[in-house]
Amino acid sequence: MCGIFGYTGQRTAAPILLEGLRTLEYRGYDSAGIFVPGHTPIKAVGPIDNLANKITGPISGTTGIAHTRWATHGSPTEANAHPHLDMSGTIAVAHNGIIENFRELKDGLVTQGIEFTSETDSEVLAKLIGTQYRGDLLKAVQAALSLVRGTYGIIVTSNHHPNEIVTARLGSPIVIGVAKDGNLISSDSSALLSYTKDVVYLEDGECAVVSKEAYEVFNLRGDKLSRKTEKIEIEASAVQKKGYEHFMLKEIMEIPEVIRDTVRGRLLADKGQVKLGGIESVMQDLLKKDRLVIVGCGSAYFAGQVGQLMLEEYAGVPVDVELGSEYRYKRNLADKNTAVLAVSQSGETADTLASVRAGKEKGLMTLGIVNAVGSTIARETDAGVYNHAGPEIAVASTKAFISQLVVLTLLTVALGREKEMTAEAGQKILRGLIELPDIIKEYLTDTSDIKKIAKKYAEYQNCMFIGRKYHAPIASEASLKLKEVTYTHSDAYAAGELKHGSIAMLDKNFPVIAIAPEDDVYEKMVSNIEEVKARQAPVLAITTAGETHLDTLVDNVLYVPKVHSVLQPIVSVIPFQLLSYYIGVEKGLNVDRPRNLAKSVTVE
Ligand code: G6P
Repeated sequence: MCGIFGYTGQRTAAPILLEGLRTLEYRGYDSAGIFVPGHTPIKAVGPIDNLANKITGPISGTTGIAHTRWATHGSPTEANAHPHLDMSGTIAVAHNGIIENFRELKDGLVTQGIEFTSETDSEVLAKLIGTQYRGDLLKAVQAALSLVRGTYGIIVTSNHHPNEIVTARLGSPIVIGVAKDGNLISSDSSALLSYTKDVVYLEDGECAVVSKEAYEVFNLRGDKLSRKTEKIEIEASAVQKKGYEHFMLKEIMEIPEVIRDTVRGRLLADKGQVKLGGIESVMQDLLKKDRLVIVGCGSAYFAGQVGQLMLEEYAGVPVDVELGSEYRYKRNLADKNTAVLAVSQSGETADTLASVRAGKEKGLMTLGIVNAVGSTIARETDAGVYNHAGPEIAVASTKAFISQLVVLTLLTVALGREKEMTAEAGQKILRGLIELPDIIKEYLTDTSDIKKIAKKYAEYQNCMFIGRKYHAPIASEASLKLKEVTYTHSDAYAAGELKHGSIAMLDKNFPVIAIAPEDDVYEKMVSNIEEVKARQAPVLAITTAGETHLDTLVDNVLYVPKVHSVLQPIVSVIPFQLLSYYIGVEKGLNVDRPRNLAKSVTVE
């Protein structure tokens, strides 16, 4: 949420800053801006292209900072766009996070006669640094930060120090890239890939001075810390569209490969066992826990709900699933015999991270299923499993969601085999997993049916998804996808719940999408579909290949390959990802960057 990018080196900064912002645009696209010392900031409302169009001539200078905004305080106007200047107009700040005590700080600054030009909390930081500046930018930043409460990842530069960027983090990610011809600073390592793979992740409470040739890391007291670079392991091509019109479609088409990457080196299929190196060290302790609490937000939360059903059915592990934003309020949080498992693609979602920290504070074991290597949740949890889904750029999660389900399946087998799962049951699941990529690859070769139905469904204003058991959370995920990507009002229900109120909504203009694979709840689903049909609602059913009855009952049917029941949600969710994608395209929407959203939500 909000992307920040800085460069100081031998090359002209402005084009590098724009390029960096383009890679970070998924973090927010309400407005964008750049500042190069010696020039006034250039800002524009809307996507990076609007900013690029405003830069009509060359901007000299080899140091600069940039920002792409997801609005929190103040509407998305040019005045509220970053970077913000101090009162002398010489120090510029780009900020990701929220300054919680900004009102009282602002009041204090206003009584000193300092004028503000924006409604943002971030401008307070800029002005505060200005008041603390006595010729040393690092000291001014440290002094200002000692006065603020809240979260920040910031980059600061100044006309007085045109070859220097000061950066600091508390709660919002900052990564320094060390390249041959200069150094870079970013919110996300993927934006550094075209320049370098050598990075330093700042920890909370750390700050750094970055110049052309060097970077120095300090804690907030000013003690110098020794921090070596780490290597990023992703390829630059992973963050490109590779011929696809949109990242979302590219990422759906990558699903077969993602499943292979997620399971690679982890399956002992003949033994029906799984090797998860990242949690081996805590496995024995984990097995002694009474329950697992899975926390996540958005799609990750729904993946957690599917995981709960798997872990309970196949591994006999009692599981609760909590929203990252709510878990901290639970009274039973302090039960020591609980392990907290955070599921997060970005590894930076503030609410999920807050749950991890709340668990840690109570002395609970914390685990992560995280896609972004080196991210905060990955580093702060006691142990974890990486998804290896590669960078996901489209804001709406597709391949990362699938990889979360795959990791949860692996965890189910890993824990199940230590508990009550037989070798044979483990083998069945793992063999199913091995076959999955080819099955899905074949399925994805022809999506014309889904495209056709998308045209019809693009006309509806409302939609209701229903499913049971594993497919109740898949109904929620499908509904979220439709809302995110197509702005269609939609809801999801465990199918049995429908008759307890929501069925009142249905009529011939309110379609229902029913997920009814031929599994152990199929017959109950068919009864629910009958109830819906009796209210004249149009019905689209998703079922498994070979099913013959639904075709006679509903308006449209889409078939997915039938696989092991624990793996079925992995396959069943794909048509909904594609349906949302095609409806979004049909409506002419920006499917990769839906309005009002950001991919990495680093505010609570
Ligand atoms: C945002 C994204 C969602 C995502 C959620 C959790 O809201 O738009 O697609 O599911 O954050 O993100 P995480 O990175 O923690 O999985």
